[in-house]
Amino acid sequence: MSRVVARGPGRVNLIGEHTDYNDGLALPFAIDRGVTVTAEPLARGGRIEARALDLGEEDEFALDDPASATGWRAFVRGTVAELRAAGHAVRPCRIAIEGDLPHGSGLSSSAALEAALCLALLEDDDVDRVELAKLCSRVENDHVGARTGLLDQLAVLCGQDGQALRIDFRDLAIEPVPLELGDWRLVTLDSGASHEHAAGSYNERRAECAAACEALGIDSLRDAVSAEGLPAPLEGRVRHVLTENARVDAMAVALAAGDLARAGPLLRESHASLRDDYEASVPEVERAVVALERAGATGARMVGGGFGGSVLALFPPGATPPDGCVSVAPGPAARRL
Ligand code: GLA
Repeated sequence: MSRVVARGPGRVNLIGEHTDYNDGLALPFAIDRGVTVTAEPLARGGRIEARALDLGEEDEFALDDPASATGWRAFVRGTVAELRAAGHAVRPCRIAIEGDLPHGSGLSSSAALEAALCLALLEDDDVDRVELAKLCSRVENDHVGARTGLLDQLAVLCGQDGQALRIDFRDLAIEPVPLELGDWRLVTLDSGASHEHAAGSYNERRAECAAACEALGIDSLRDAVSAEGLPAPLEGRVRHVLTENARVDAMAVALAAGDLARAGPLLRESHASLRDDYEASVPEVERAVVALERAGATGARMVGGGFGGSVLALFPPGATPPDGCVSVAPGPAARRL
């Protein structure tokens, strides 16, 4: 194996938040910004040397004993451990990581890093992408300690240029939906509040969804028909999941019809539901939403796990997004360069 350079894109979830781990629906796309991993083979030593160029930090560990670690090191060690556990040969190499996707901004720098690491380390990158997404998810769940779902990894590994992906997490069916913006613009604005999935609130929401399933006597909230009668806060959590799944399908229909005027109100409704029913917002995110709507966005909502991170907004032709906004559009999946 000679030098391999792999790129993992970040992702924006157009709509369908906190639905993935409830066997629901989402509509994400891969974006241009992401993480690049370069792997240079080492002739001997049975070790991995890794450098996070943006942080100026290093790591080194034995291939056959990638003991656990924290921060970015947990991703590298976890990826090596999971690739080997899945039967892939990983050669000794020197890895360099760099990116243009701020960590904690809600655009999935984690999945971007996992995907780029896998594609850089695999001997042959012609592997099943859904299986690879599951492997990346195990890195996050079992090595990093964040009980995240499969949304980010599927978006990053299966994204398509110009398309959003309607993902049904019950059977992992993925259906591309053209996202043609014309003179409209989708932008993200960093709220300035960083979020950490490994921290409590995300895992707490998952536990609440599991508790709601137990109260309703069902295996997953996809099987729920109504939130009525559940105690607070479970009623709101279930109502969010039910209404959000419906909004994903409404958005897919609107996009297929090229009806971007319908998209803004759906983004607004999704945000209100995440704020009021799912209680996943923070003041910085609310301020960003207000600033975007004042500037003329037809809809704005938090993206990703919430509790900080970025806000996504849709601007009609002629409107000018405020300073700090970055345009986003669907780009290609993770790949070797
Ligand atoms: C994070 C997680 C995803 C998903 C979203 C919320 O991005 O990594 O699995 O749960 O939050 O939709």
